[in-house]
Amino acid sequence: RPAPLIDPFARPISYLRVSVTDRCDFRCVYCMAENMTFLPKADLLSLEELDRLCSAFVRLGVEKLRITGGEPLVRKGIMTFFRAMARHLESGALKELTLTTNGSQLRKHAAELVACGVRRINVSLDTLDAEKFAQITRWGRLAQVLDGIAAAKEAGLRVKINAVALKGFNEDELFQLVDWCAAEGHDLTFIEVMPMGDLGNEDRLDQYWSLKDLRARLAERFTLHDLAERTGGPARYVRLEETGQKLGFITPLTHNFCESCNRVRLTCTGELYMCLGQEDMADLRAPLRASPDDAVVEAAIRAAIAKKPKGHDFDYSRAGVRGTMSRHMSHTGG
Ligand code: GTP
Ligand code: 5AD
Ligand code: SF4
Repeated sequence: RPAPLIDPFARPISYLRVSVTDRCDFRCVYCMAENMTFLPKADLLSLEELDRLCSAFVRLGVEKLRITGGEPLVRKGIMTFFRAMARHLESGALKELTLTTNGSQLRKHAAELVACGVRRINVSLDTLDAEKFAQITRWGRLAQVLDGIAAAKEAGLRVKINAVALKGFNEDELFQLVDWCAAEGHDLTFIEVMPMGDLGNEDRLDQYWSLKDLRARLAERFTLHDLAERTGGPARYVRLEETGQKLGFITPLTHNFCESCNRVRLTCTGELYMCLGQEDMADLRAPLRASPDDAVVEAAIRAAIAKKPKGHDFDYSRAGVRGTMSRHMSHTGG
């Protein structure tokens, strides 16, 4: 086996997030601007190229592959790609194949995802109020997403709900979200909103609700026990004593988790971002297209990992927080 990927801070890289499209059928207000210019199709990696790149990462020791977007399930032919990645699960090289989705297309795809070896998915859902849902996604239909989540559950997938904590938006729904997830048997993770991309009129500081506050609110009703358990992502988990429920917290702002970072992200055009909260990236599409020799691609991946920065620079106390990063979250898939 080739030597595993280790970055300059001695962190082994075992988790690859792959954005297969920058497009989405929603426009969540914290993720995209209302009028997004999407990439021309010609810039996208083909499904075969995505397969070649991901397979190179798997050979270099990546054990967890998360497919993201935009909305991954709107990419044409995406199930062909999932089927291709399933062979790495079967060989034992890959331990987990999964995706993060907005849920809108799950009714159509849930059964086949299971057939491809997907066991657990993350679904973004910030509110259970249909009107508020339409507002935050700019036009999404809550009923369609709830139906997609139900389909996933029927198909045997474990579901983790991702809720971005948003000031003045879902503060008042905290306990409803917790109770609904408990009743449905879903895990739930809260996320601090990150200043990715210019949103036009939206001000990030107006959106930001710290998970320190959210946790304090939870503690008014529940006893929280910190768990040591991890899922390979950035979330820290607690168990609620009263219900036995598990809750996750992703806190890039109030508690930086970069020291244990194990991941890099590939965009749909073959750029490798070594950190979500930094601008530097490495182009893997050029070496991929320049040579049919996989050794060339592997060398490019190693060179990129050697430049992985220590951590992100998100900071709401600095000036210009409207978009600390120039690119939108949908570009790198979170
Ligand atoms: P699990 O496998 O369930 O642990 O999933 P995950 O948390 O790795 O993936 P998911 O796609 O559900 O991401 C949830 C949130 O975490 C998103 O808002 C991501 O942007 C954020 N996130 C994931 N990785 C990183 C990271 O390295 N840095 C920062 N700042 N945020 C991250
Ligand atoms: N800050 C934090 N999380 C975000 N997401 C999208 N944009 C942001 C942001 N600016 C979340 C989505 C999804 C995950 C991939 O990232 O809600 O659950
Ligand atoms: Fe689409 Fe997800 Fe971004 Fe919302 S957060 S616009 S569902 S990619």
